[in-house]
Amino acid sequence: MKTTMDEPVINLKEILQTSIAKATMKGLVYGGPGIIELKEIPMPTILKPTDAVVKVLKTTICGTDLGILKGKTPSVKPGTTLGHEGVGVIEEVGTAVRSFKKGDQVIISCITSDGTCEYCKKQMYAHCEDGGWILGNTINGTQAEYVRIPHADNSLHHTPAGADEEALVMLSDILPTGFEIGVINGCVKPGDTIAIVGAGPVGMSALLTSQFYSPAKIYMIDLDENRLELAKEFGATDTINSGTEDAVKRIMAETKDGVDVCIEAVGVPASFDICQNIVRPGGHIANVGVHGHSVDFQIQNLWIQNITLTTGLVSTNTTPMLLKTVSSGKINPAKLITHHFKLDNILQAYEVFGNAATEKAMKVIIEP
Ligand SMILES: NC(=O)c1ccc[n+]([C@@H]2O[C@H](COP(=O)([O-])OP(=O)(O)OC[C@H]3O[C@@H](n4cnc5c(N)ncnc54)[C@H](O)[C@@H]3O)[C@@H](O)[C@H]2O)c1
Ligand SMILES: [Zn+2]
Ligand SMILES: [Zn+2]
Repeated sequence: MKTTMDEPVINLKEILQTSIAKATMKGLVYGGPGIIELKEIPMPTILKPTDAVVKVLKTTICGTDLGILKGKTPSVKPGTTLGHEGVGVIEEVGTAVRSFKKGDQVIISCITSDGTCEYCKKQMYAHCEDGGWILGNTINGTQAEYVRIPHADNSLHHTPAGADEEALVMLSDILPTGFEIGVINGCVKPGDTIAIVGAGPVGMSALLTSQFYSPAKIYMIDLDENRLELAKEFGATDTINSGTEDAVKRIMAETKDGVDVCIEAVGVPASFDICQNIVRPGGHIANVGVHGHSVDFQIQNLWIQNITLTTGLVSTNTTPMLLKTVSSGKINPAKLITHHFKLDNILQAYEVFGNAATEKAMKVIIEP
C-alpha cells in the first residue's frame, strides 16, 4: 500500500490508546462486608486533564482496609478496587498535569487534593472539595496493577533518586497520619510524658515521629506482646499490655497525675476510654483511630480538667517534610515492613495482615 507523509492510513497513537482503554489488569475488588476478590478489571484511563495513570510498583494494606471489610465504612461500594497507599511510575498524564511526566517515579498520597479550594488553601487537603480520602473509597484504589490519580500535581510526590521504595510506601498514609493527627494535633513537647494506645503501623508512626520533639517518657499500650516488643526497639520507654494489666491504674500510679498527651490509634471505645482516664489537667487527647461506634465521653469529669480533644483525617500536608526525614535516615520506617507478597497472592496478604498478632505482622508490601 502506498502512503504519503501527509495522509497516514493508520494513526498509531489512536490504536495504542484504544488498546490501552480496552486492556484489563488485576485489581483487588471489594464485594461487600467480608468479601474481596482479585479480578481482571478494566485498566484505568485519563478521565480529566488533571489526571495521571500510575503503574503501581509497591502497595500495602491499611488497618482502614480491614475496617472496610468489617463494614465500618459504608461509603465504599461493592465493585471498588481497594487501597490508598503505594509508590509507582507514571504511565500517562493528562494535558493539564505540569509537574509529572511519563516515567517519573512517584509516591501516591492517600489524600487527593486539587490545591485550589478553600480547604486546600488552608492545607486541609483531607477536606478538599474535589478530593480528600477518595482512593480505594469512592474511586478505585492502589491494590491493582495501575491506578488513576485525580489532581496528580497535588496528590503525588516525586521519589528522590536512590530512595528505598519500600520505606517510601509508609509516606502515603501511616507516617503523616501518626504525625499530623497524633503528634502535631496532640502538641507533643520536649519533656512530655505521652501515651500511645495502639501499636499498629499508625501508632508506631506516631511513636517514631513523636521523638522529633524529645518527649521524656513514652508509654506504648497494646494487647499484642510482639508489637510491644517492637515498640521498645522504636523508642518506647514503657510498654503496657492492656489485656493483662490495668493500663489506667499503672499510668496513674507511675505519673504525678496522668500523661500530657494521649494518642488514640485503635478506634474502639475501650482504647478511647483509656485515653480519657489517663489525660492530666491541661493535657491533650489526639484521636487518630477510625471509630465505627460512639464512645462514652466522660464530660462530667473532664469539663474541669482543661483538656483538649482533637480528631481528624490525615491531610498529608507534612509528607514533603517527612520525606526529608526518611531520606536523611532520621527515621527508618522500612523497619515496619514484616512481609512481602506478589499481587497474585494479595488474599493471603490480607489473611496475614488480618491476623497480625499470630502472624507477627506489621506492614506488608505487595508488588506485581
Ligand atoms: N485518622 C486518620 O486519618 C487515619 C488514617 C489511617 C488510619 N487510621 C486509623 O488508625 C487506626 C490504627 O491503624 P493501624 O493501621 O495501626 O491499625 P491496626 O489494626 O494494625 O492496629 C491497631 C492496634 O490496636 C491494638 N488494639 C486493639 N484493641 C485494643 C485495645 N482495646 N487496647 C489497646 N490496643 C488495642 C491492636 O492489637 C493493634 O496492634 C485504625 O482505626 C485506622 O483505621 C486513621
Ligand atoms: Zn490508611
Ligand atoms: Zn481542594
